[in-house]
Amino acid sequence: MPTTTPTTPSLTNDIAEVLINEAQIKQRVAELGAAINKDFAGEQVLIIAVLKGALLFLADLMRHVDLPLAVDFLAVSSYGAGTQSSGVVRILKDLDESIEHRNVIIVEDIVDSGRTLDYLLRMLRQRHPATLHVCTLLDKRDRREIDVPIDYVGFEVPDAFVVGYGLDYGEHYRQLPFIGVLKPEIYQ
Ligand code: IMP
Ligand code: MG
Repeated sequence: MPTTTPTTPSLTNDIAEVLINEAQIKQRVAELGAAINKDFAGEQVLIIAVLKGALLFLADLMRHVDLPLAVDFLAVSSYGAGTQSSGVVRILKDLDESIEHRNVIIVEDIVDSGRTLDYLLRMLRQRHPATLHVCTLLDKRDRREIDVPIDYVGFEVPDAFVVGYGLDYGEHYRQLPFIGVLKPEIYQ
């Protein structure tokens, strides 16, 4: 019998408030999958997940996509370990495949200032996909600095630093099964 405490309850101590619980995420992700199935009926899609934050969202979303589907990954860095966007986007890992003439759906964890997505959209448009859409789990709309087109939004969230379900603070908290607001004393 394990005698040590599992890590998740101690991580939960750093959460001020659960914004979106597991059941709410599950239901909304299924709805997003159904919308994609409807909009792309009869087509093939290429989902481009933005690492690492979109990892859990991608894994759950793709289970609801009932279309011929390929997945590729982009890894970007715009934050370092802080909570404010540096405004500088770096590609840490580019795509493996060409996106030319394909129906591309970018899957993101959260759109905040919009800088990361704006950069990615510009970069991917130059590669001539047939179509280019955006699906984000979270939209922190009040913080937008650049107007970016978003086709599918899971939830709108207030201007607070959130973690869990793939989202991190300094690489921690990604494994939490819910979206929570981090206690300000953790990063202040
Ligand atoms: P943007 O370029 O300001 O739109 O920021 C986009 C990226 O910043 C997201 O893909 C996240 O990786 C990160 N980010 C923004 N807000 C949060 C947050 O509240 N929690 C965790 N990561 C965030
Ligand atoms: Mg991200």
